[in-house]
Amino acid sequence: MARELETIWADAQTLARAQREWASAFIDRLAPPDWTQPTPYRLFSKIELENAIEEVRAATSAFRDAGFATPIAYSVKTNPDHRVLEQLARLGLGFECISNSERALVAECAPDADLVVLNGPVKAWPDKRLIGTHDYVIADRQSELDCLIEDLESGALRVNALGFRLRGRDATSRFGFALGAASQLDQLAASLRRASLKVDRLGAHVHLPASSRGSSQWRDEVASAFELLIELQERTGQQLQFMDLGGGFSPEQWSCDGATLAQDLAPRLREALPGADTVIFEPGRCLVQRSIALFATVRDIDAQSKEVLLDASVAELAHWYAFTHLVSSFSRREQRWRLWEHGGSQLSGRTCMEHDVLARAVAPPADLALGDCVVLLEAGGYDFSLSFPFGSGGQSPALMKIKREEDNLTASS
Ligand SMILES: Cc1ncc(COP(=O)(O)O)c(C=O)c1O
Repeated sequence: MARELETIWADAQTLARAQREWASAFIDRLAPPDWTQPTPYRLFSKIELENAIEEVRAATSAFRDAGFATPIAYSVKTNPDHRVLEQLARLGLGFECISNSERALVAECAPDADLVVLNGPVKAWPDKRLIGTHDYVIADRQSELDCLIEDLESGALRVNALGFRLRGRDATSRFGFALGAASQLDQLAASLRRASLKVDRLGAHVHLPASSRGSSQWRDEVASAFELLIELQERTGQQLQFMDLGGGFSPEQWSCDGATLAQDLAPRLREALPGADTVIFEPGRCLVQRSIALFATVRDIDAQSKEVLLDASVAELAHWYAFTHLVSSFSRREQRWRLWEHGGSQLSGRTCMEHDVLARAVAPPADLALGDCVVLLEAGGYDFSLSFPFGSGGQSPALMKIKREEDNLTASS
């Protein structure tokens, strides 16, 4: 147990170091604040998006070596801003949607996308039923799969590929097929045999939040899903054609562990699914999180506690609780950004919610002054899509938008 804790601690330290290294490089490239722009505002960096895609593509090479195509279907819910979607489409990505509304957005922003995966528990929303022609559709549970098959048989629905989501081995999740009992496996096998009369490609899907579980537990749970798929294929007498490995990784987890995980899992997947030709990845956070920074102004500094009060808040950094957002401020004297160290102070937001604390255990620079500009890094994932209008008097649409967009982060670009 002590050894296990040591490993968890060492892994956490490695990831924290990687996050800090990235942040230092980011602020070195960051242009000075736009003092004319009312805060809070967001900056979008296309370069960060491109770097993240390269990182995911490079890390998945072991699957290509094992003979799989490895398309990326970006998780639209993570950040559905049209500039993000358009840029991803330009870079050749596909999209994962959890509703018909998201699918309509993708049709608008990325009409030529050649991979769209429909996933989630109520994917037809706001429509009542999923009808028409779709690319990849992943059933979330047995009752939904039964419905989809009925519509395939009636001709109301046509899909190129049909999958089912497996629940993680240790998951308390409400999503996916729980296949603990042999009868559940038999029922799924029977459904897949029926579906195979109407659909050319069948496959399986797992999505496990690696960022909270840790990379090695993610790998073990995915590997045990592969074992289950071997048994399922035996029961159906058919081979699956694709595997969808979902998303769920933080950016630093991808850069530190992605390639090793792929090297470990690719041969196991090849063995488990000899008839499969494709492994789909559905990253959200690890692609977009680093591409947006949230800019704010210092409104107060407590003389004793050094608590810093900003005009940004948890309403614009809505995923504040999920990971540490590193903080930087612009030194007017040195004319450069500085990354805050760990310390005994906290950074608070403008609203009257007790939990409106954007960073704890930080050390603001000694010369930080009222009116200075502070940047909260990695605000491009769920911080963006979960934003809410609290305390803005209805001004939230303005805050929701990205106010500054740069191809690069440097002032000269
Ligand atoms: C099925 C599925 N795929 C992909 C994602 C994207 O996850 P992340 O943004 O953490 O990479 C999610 C997030 O909840 C999901 O549920």
